[in-house]
Amino acid sequence: MVREPEAESVDGVSQRPELEGDETEFPQGQAEILNRVDHVLAVMSGKGGVGKSSVAAMLAVALRRAGKRVGLLDADITGPSIPRMFGLSGHPRMSPLGIVPVKSATGIKVISINLLLQNEDEAVIWRGPLIAGAIRQFWGDVYWGDLDVLVIDLPPGTADAPLTVMQSIPLSAVLMVTSPQDLAGMVVRKAARMANALHVPIIGLVENMSHVVCPTCGARLPVFGPSSAEHTAQRLGIPFLGRIPLDPELATQCDDGQIERYDGGVMGPIVDEVLARMPKEKVKPLLGRGRGGGEGVQQRGA
Ligand SMILES: Nc1ncnc2c1ncn2[C@@H]1O[C@H](COP(=O)(O)OP(=O)(O)O)[C@@H](O)[C@H]1O
Ligand SMILES: [Mg+2]
Repeated sequence: MVREPEAESVDGVSQRPELEGDETEFPQGQAEILNRVDHVLAVMSGKGGVGKSSVAAMLAVALRRAGKRVGLLDADITGPSIPRMFGLSGHPRMSPLGIVPVKSATGIKVISINLLLQNEDEAVIWRGPLIAGAIRQFWGDVYWGDLDVLVIDLPPGTADAPLTVMQSIPLSAVLMVTSPQDLAGMVVRKAARMANALHVPIIGLVENMSHVVCPTCGARLPVFGPSSAEHTAQRLGIPFLGRIPLDPELATQCDDGQIERYDGGVMGPIVDEVLARMPKEKVKPLLGRGRGGGEGVQQRGA
């Protein structure tokens, strides 16, 4: 966060995060050459509030439980929620190799704009190019070291930030998240079209908030109505990987920063599917070249 241009100033709002501690200089993009990240999986949905961040976090936790070396990159610059779920408040360190992520209780390496702010309630009011710059630094200037899987929590929609992630980070695949409502299915289809246009494979679709399990009789109650996720997956020609119930316990653990303690048994089969379907080829650094593609994606303005 050291070399980005100043944004316009708005009274009372911090325009960019201040890094605490020593600001060791490191050659830009060096970390990307040193890192050995085998697979990068972005969690995506066209819509906010369907549980992308929760699914991204549970996925990282489940992969870690499966013995993998895991990183979690919070690419939601204006609405970061990952550090809160893991109860993280420390700041990333600057080292001669790059920015060093903060480790969670179980050893997941986390980077998020919130970890770089003095106060987690501070608003980040940045224009697109500054947001894009932060996302690129999270890939190119963070010393992730050796990782089996880097999970990326994308912001909602198909606008600037997801586009930056898809174009400047070598993704192995994206995992789509939806909720049972058809409206969510519709925006997932838009997101899927974007991934296709940028030549990023879609590993499958997960339905979050599928149902509530009745605590007394164990029945599955479809509180958001009948699911359309399998149908959506079929229409997109992608695998349907499973359902995650609406569970008040999960919401509480997230709010308490204890997501690593959440049972998350439902994630087991989903993670098995993800690992089985992950492209065999390991990712290669893009070194600022970008991945190309984008034909058919409407890009206007900026
Ligand atoms: N399966 C679930 N059960 C209970 N609460 C959930 C579940 N998934 C998400 N939530 C809650 O819903 C809210 C939105 O989830 P979040 O993961 O932040 O969505 P998104 O990243 O798509 O905006 C959060 O308060 C989260 O704790
Ligand atoms: Mg989110």
